[in-house]
Amino acid sequence: MHKPTEFNLGELNGISAKTNEIHEKKLYVGYVNKRNEVEEKLSKITPEELTAGNQVYSYLRGLKEGETFAANGMILHQMFFSILGGNGDAAGTKILSAIEKEWGSFENFKAMFTASAMAARGWAILCWDFSDMKLHIYTADAQNQGGVWNCTVVLNVDVYEHSYFLDYGSDRKAYLEAFFKNINWNKVDQLYGQVANIN
Ligand SMILES: [Fe+2]
Repeated sequence: MHKPTEFNLGELNGISAKTNEIHEKKLYVGYVNKRNEVEEKLSKITPEELTAGNQVYSYLRGLKEGETFAANGMILHQMFFSILGGNGDAAGTKILSAIEKEWGSFENFKAMFTASAMAARGWAILCWDFSDMKLHIYTADAQNQGGVWNCTVVLNVDVYEHSYFLDYGSDRKAYLEAFFKNINWNKVDQLYGQVANIN
């Protein structure tokens, strides 16, 4: 049984308390509840329902599809909320050095991350990729689409419209500017330190 983490972000710099409250208490909690519901149903699945598993449609297929959607919905929102609440200043962090090495400068990284977020339908995600031991920016069009296996999220932004429509209408770019002002880079650096081989 998964329990929702409480974030209670309140009003951020350019992201309203109402947006944060709906996002956390309704949408994020909804993913946690659905993940629990799917896991409960999987634990009680009958031998007949297992045997009837089918790739076009079956009860098991519906549960397995919902399982990854709900699990990633829960995890990605937790990661996203956890790196908010800062002042956007990355100075002095180890991840800033890694970003500068990979993208040449923080401004180049910000431009690439923002452009990726504009091109995505769900998420832009800065990950540590264990396949080449490097940082990458990946995008996801849905909770369970676009993820690259064996990568660990260190910074992500939700670009579903519920993240910004109340505050910015259809102006996603303005929301992304606000997002960067609220990043807690110490938290991002902590996540990075857990996965990257830092000496
Ligand atoms: Fe969301």
